[in-house]
Amino acid sequence: MSHHVLLIGGHGKVSQLLTPLLLSRSWNVTSVIRTADQKPTIEALGKNQPGKLDVLISSVADVKTESDAKQIIERVKPDWVVWSAGAGGKGGASNTIAVDHDAAIAFTKASIHTPSVKKFLTVSYLSSRRGKPSWWSDSDWETAQKTNNEILPTYYKAKVAADEVLTVLSRERLEKEARDGVPEKELFAGISLRPGGLTEEKAGGVKVGKIGVGAKTSRHTTAHAIVAALETGFKGWLDVIDGDEDPKTAIQKLADQRIDTSEEENWEAAKERVSKL
Ligand SMILES: NC(=O)c1ccc[n+]([C@@H]2O[C@H](COP(=O)([O-])OP(=O)(O)OC[C@H]3O[C@@H](n4cnc5c(N)ncnc54)[C@H](OP(=O)(O)O)[C@@H]3O)[C@@H](O)[C@H]2O)c1
Repeated sequence: MSHHVLLIGGHGKVSQLLTPLLLSRSWNVTSVIRTADQKPTIEALGKNQPGKLDVLISSVADVKTESDAKQIIERVKPDWVVWSAGAGGKGGASNTIAVDHDAAIAFTKASIHTPSVKKFLTVSYLSSRRGKPSWWSDSDWETAQKTNNEILPTYYKAKVAADEVLTVLSRERLEKEARDGVPEKELFAGISLRPGGLTEEKAGGVKVGKIGVGAKTSRHTTAHAIVAALETGFKGWLDVIDGDEDPKTAIQKLADQRIDTSEEENWEAAKERVSKL
């Protein structure tokens, strides 16, 4: 079956590796990029591919509300949305808040609230969580605390808030779909894909699921893991680092076993926070 993916942050390093993988499956891609001078680079990714590539020039820093994001979704009409944008520390804390918090949350809400969007995948990171899960060591927790509170505090607050919006609203949508009798195969998939520090290594195997923090993930492998998460019935939080297993096999196993690393977070407290955003 063909799909139409709205890829936000299309000029990013992961996105440029992901785009040809999506197009090679005969899926169509609308790549959202920040400036017109980035267009030729992105268009080159679509040459001789079976899927069709469109480019949309739009700074997501201008997307402030769910209704702003909804306008883009209504114009593009994707069935899947992938968020791989990020301020990357450029433009200071205010730009991190505008992109990684405000725009990410706006697209997450608008995607989940659009019935024709069937999957929303965000690229988050391993330490984006509030509690220490039982499978983390004390040293994992210390590493995550240092990253989140000392090294990248604004980024952490933005990413964890966006992950919570994704999870709380995905659960609400799934509850509604269950009440409406939507068949299992057509149920909404909200996915937070969570790599470690991203590297330029070549594509390789993965280790996924209930893992610790501190390891690295190749951007090439991350792109393959995104495709695998979209192709399988995976839902929830997917932690992924470089390892030995084939990405599609490993992620299919997680999907079949319904392993979702969000399970030990406090979702009642998260619901309360999300209701105020
Ligand atoms: N770096 C890590 O180690 C790490 C680890 C885990 C997760 N992540 C997450 O992984 C994702 C992808 O990472 P990456 O390595 O591909 O990052 P990247 O190369 O910095 O890509 C991010 C993209 O977002 C775009 N962007 C920023 N502001 C924008 C705006 N206002 N409008 C439109 N696009 C905008 C950037 O545009 P420009 O090209 O114009 O700058 C860039 O193309 C990000 O969400 C990041 O938070 C990163």
